[in-house]
Amino acid sequence: MELHITLDDRRDLTGSLYRQLRDAVLDGRLRAGEALPATRELARRLAVSRGTVSVVYDRLAAEGYLTARVGAGTFVRESAAPSRHAPAASPLRPRPEWTGLRAWPYWRQDVPYDMRAGLPDTRLFPYEAWRRLMAAELRPRTHDVGDPAGLPVLREAIARHAGVSRSVRASASDVIVTSGIQQALDLVGRVLLEPGAHVAVEDPGYPPAQLLFRSQGLRVTGVPVDAEGLRVDALPPDVRAVYLTPSHQFPLGMPMSLPRRRALLDWARRRDVVVIEDDYDTEYRFGGRPIEPLQSLDEDGRVLYLGTFSKLMRPVLRLGFLVAPPALHDAFRMARYVTSWHGDPPVQAALARFIDEGLLARHIRRSRRVYQERHELIADTLTTGLADRLTLVPSAAGLHLSARLSAPSDVQAVQAADAEGVALFPLSDFAVTEPPSNGLVFGYGAISTEDIPPALTRLRRALDGR
Ligand SMILES: Cc1ncc(COP(=O)(O)O)c(C=O)c1O
Repeated sequence: MELHITLDDRRDLTGSLYRQLRDAVLDGRLRAGEALPATRELARRLAVSRGTVSVVYDRLAAEGYLTARVGAGTFVRESAAPSRHAPAASPLRPRPEWTGLRAWPYWRQDVPYDMRAGLPDTRLFPYEAWRRLMAAELRPRTHDVGDPAGLPVLREAIARHAGVSRSVRASASDVIVTSGIQQALDLVGRVLLEPGAHVAVEDPGYPPAQLLFRSQGLRVTGVPVDAEGLRVDALPPDVRAVYLTPSHQFPLGMPMSLPRRRALLDWARRRDVVVIEDDYDTEYRFGGRPIEPLQSLDEDGRVLYLGTFSKLMRPVLRLGFLVAPPALHDAFRMARYVTSWHGDPPVQAALARFIDEGLLARHIRRSRRVYQERHELIADTLTTGLADRLTLVPSAAGLHLSARLSAPSDVQAVQAADAEGVALFPLSDFAVTEPPSNGLVFGYGAISTEDIPPALTRLRRALDGR
């Protein structure tokens, strides 16, 4: 890449060029070992004589910043480590909403036994088919500017997919394609929630949703959950929106019961509250009768349904969607437009064909068998070999399950497991405003089936303090 140099002061070309190159070495913009342009080329670019550039290079070499290698060119000296960076003191400060936020600990790679919730198995992804579809889209004719609401063929395909697999009532025009559920939440906050508005979330609950609402200046309160899901009787009276995961409570895992769903919808209607339904992983269902989503039970259009391809396919694709009633279509389209113009049309087109050709359905069928086996293996081990310490929370879907822990504290247990090479999340990490529950969350997306028994043996050792 070309280094940016401005020679405004034509009276002191040599001094100006010298200072700019020296500063670029000192603040690390030119890195050790990096080649400088040849004197002739830089002189031409800056419209100065070649002699001016040579003088500057010689001086910087004499001072130890550069080194010239005969026949090869001029380079930044290896020992010329940067010593100055951008000014450390700045008067700029983030808004209070942006201080003290903590990201979810996913950046660690190479965990021997990775049981962190939220990750699908990337080995199951149908790479061949996806490459073929992507290759077909990356041609000069491809869509360069897309509809902010998403590619029409994909909106059609998603409406059908959500209708068939989750009984969501939607036509293509109700679907806004987003960059994952996270962006859908951002759009919902922008379009529907006034600054300072009060949002209720499940407690324990999904941290990225809370972070997002907080960053938008919204007030977030955790509402306890029990075996039937979010406790409607504990909802604060002044909330403007409720965010929840009724199909597979995150992180505990149980579904919200039908009477509770009806009670929530009734409560929301009486108080004119927005209901945000996050249905992130229930295409993977292993038994039991699925309960209808809030969106299809809702009779007055106050539920926003959020879906994602992060679990079905891969989170790196950043593909999700929002289903909204007609009165909100224009505002959502504009919210998507002002924040990011539009998504990634070639990827959206590939996904539309992936769904239309039946490849998504096939991928789900295959992956479901694998995840079901892992789910059952963990559930069986917890209820037999680890029952003295852990009490399983019943669940029949998704990519993780949870268990309550009698002792020690879940943070201690997770640290001890980590020393054994097993990574998993403590339940207390998901507490919002209620006192934290003690337990462990077992993700089985990233870990292979064969690795589950040794991982749980190591966990047993960790819990016994051996
Ligand atoms: C509760 C919940 N919602 C949504 C998501 C997915 O979010 P996204 O679509 O932004 O990748 C996850 C992933 O871990 C989740 O656990």
